[in-house]
Amino acid sequence: MAGRLETAQKRLSYLFGTLHGTGAPEVICERGDGVYLYDQNGNKYIDFSGGPHVVSLGHASQKVNEATKRQIDKVSFFFRAFWLNEPLLELAERIIKVSPANLTMCQFCNSGSEANETAIKIAHQYHVERGKPEKYMVLSRWQSYHGMTLGALSVSGHTIRRQKFAQLLHHWPKIPAPLCYHCAYELTYPGCDIKCARALEELINQVGPQYVAAFFIEPVGGAGTACMVPVPEYYPMVREICDKYDVLLIDDEVICGFGRTGKWFGIEHWGVSPDILTSAKGMTGGYTPMAVVIIDQKIGKVFKEKSAGFMHGFTMEGNPVSAATCLAVIDVLEKEGLVERCAKMGEYFFQKARAKLSHHPVVGDIRGKGLLMGIELVQDKAKSQPFDLKRGAANRLQRIAMEHGVMGYPTVGIKDGVSGDAFLVSPPFIITEPVIDEAFDLLDAAITDFEKEFL
Ligand SMILES: Cc1ncc(COP(=O)(O)O)c(C=O)c1O
Repeated sequence: MAGRLETAQKRLSYLFGTLHGTGAPEVICERGDGVYLYDQNGNKYIDFSGGPHVVSLGHASQKVNEATKRQIDKVSFFFRAFWLNEPLLELAERIIKVSPANLTMCQFCNSGSEANETAIKIAHQYHVERGKPEKYMVLSRWQSYHGMTLGALSVSGHTIRRQKFAQLLHHWPKIPAPLCYHCAYELTYPGCDIKCARALEELINQVGPQYVAAFFIEPVGGAGTACMVPVPEYYPMVREICDKYDVLLIDDEVICGFGRTGKWFGIEHWGVSPDILTSAKGMTGGYTPMAVVIIDQKIGKVFKEKSAGFMHGFTMEGNPVSAATCLAVIDVLEKEGLVERCAKMGEYFFQKARAKLSHHPVVGDIRGKGLLMGIELVQDKAKSQPFDLKRGAANRLQRIAMEHGVMGYPTVGIKDGVSGDAFLVSPPFIITEPVIDEAFDLLDAAITDFEKEFL
């Protein structure tokens, strides 16, 4: 087994990017079991971050592992253009069964970023095939995150993640995020008349509806807004505006999809159906790379009527091993009623978080849905004022929490795309009430230590 020094040397010699510099991980993850991860020294950590937002069934599910092994023993790879893929056909059918009724066909890929990239291209080609090639702009919201590839980053309003690549991005316009805690208009619900939704119609008219192809959302926010939950009127208003101007509504459920918010898809909480839905993390449970784009029947119909192929595809997309694995994940979610369990456990999760953490002066807000929670960290609670970005508050809390044996995900940019730290927690759906209690006790102690350094 490699010692700490040897590990650090290999990391510095061979790994680039986020795995190289200061802030890179120092501890080897040896194994996982249920809601726990173990390091090489046998120390146990509650995987309260679930990945982030990936691990829904827990670690080392025998059912999923066996399904993956069975497929590997049969065949691990063949090219999609030459062979029918049985597990993938079954997976597509199972996904359509749990998706909003208007969504009827799947396009597979390998990551959330690829799924959003794919959705942008489908939206544009849909308009091209209908004789509207000038509809090219994809609108979105500030403080959003849709992925690191150039198209997905273009629709992401996460300033800090965009900054160094600005010249490479499409500069499509954005509206403010519907985040009441930092309302861009400094208004209060419900007196605000949901100005953040009306902003979409204003923007479409300003740029010209003839140029707008689509509008991107995350139903419940992720890294960009620390699990923002828009008010009940928001998505029905957005849906109406999109319909009025022939703009496709693209619903990024990379985090929320496959149960994380207590329903199969987050948008269902608002009773709204998107035209295109993307998902990734939870559909794999962390057992394989895989993602999906699910489209409305009207989009499928246009491509079919025009006999138009979709000029797109990735070599590894929908490979039989990933397909068999995701099929087993969906099987476990359904047979063990884990989506319903997530909804039920989510109530306890928020109740406990508020009871155990709200008293901390640095905890400004606790928000989210199901087993997806953002804990916003503030310097001044009365003014909702963030910490100075340079202090690296969220990253520091992540390190302290890990020392206490509990995992969470740090993020920044919540207030304005640059400043505003938060700590996200999203445990596996199999978590129990006593483990939730224990995790919040550990987090409570970690935040107390954090406050000694930061206040
Ligand atoms: C909402 C959302 N969309 C897209 C992505 C990108 O997914 P991936 O990292 O799999 O490319 C993420 C990743 O965190 C996400 O949270």
